[in-house]
Amino acid sequence: MPGLLLGDVFPNFEAETTIGKIKFHDFLGDSWGVLFSHPRDYTPVCTTELGRAARLSAEFSKRNVKMIALSIDSVEDHLGWSKDVMAYNGEAPGCTFPFPIIADDKRELAVMLGMLDPDERDKDGMPLTARCVFVIGPDKKLKLSILYPATTGRNFDELLRVIDSLQLTAQKRVATPVDWKPGDEVMVLPNIPEDEAAALFPAGVYTKDLPSGKKYLRYTPQP
Ligand code: BEZ
Repeated sequence: MPGLLLGDVFPNFEAETTIGKIKFHDFLGDSWGVLFSHPRDYTPVCTTELGRAARLSAEFSKRNVKMIALSIDSVEDHLGWSKDVMAYNGEAPGCTFPFPIIADDKRELAVMLGMLDPDERDKDGMPLTARCVFVIGPDKKLKLSILYPATTGRNFDELLRVIDSLQLTAQKRVATPVDWKPGDEVMVLPNIPEDEAAALFPAGVYTKDLPSGKKYLRYTPQP
């Protein structure tokens, strides 16, 4: 991802959106944020993705995460297409779309944030936005980025799972192992000495024996 690295302060850009003009940091306030781009309005995979994202919006709110989408279409297109997305979800006409969509029709943000997919182009040969995901912490710093090509739809349940991990590991000195879900055991960070780990995790630390004899696989119940 050119330009934007984990830990960088996310650009405080201004943008036109379906809820009016925003300044990104003001939009986030003290919340976490997820900004995700899609290639184009009125396209099939994007419709399924935004539909799923809309269905899960209460789960994001529960985690204090503000959602915002982006594509290289106009506010007018976003407003029209979001009605289709709600209908795809089986919602009644007139139901409001639960999060704003940024209109980046001049591709300025897409360029600044490294979101363009050179392999997917519109009918005029211009590159479309890829399926980028940025998770931003309450300190406005980039906590996670994922980049999918236009032809592969994302999994928004996985996004909630990684946000659960990001929020836990921001508070506690643990890491989450493969396929971790909330409530599963977590790993004690490798840089915590054994005596400190015992004090930090009173629920107990279990170390798995390994052929190397090294005691690095240390589990503890989720604190
Ligand atoms: C889609 O959303 O279906 C899509 C958009 C651009 C390229 C490929 C697929």
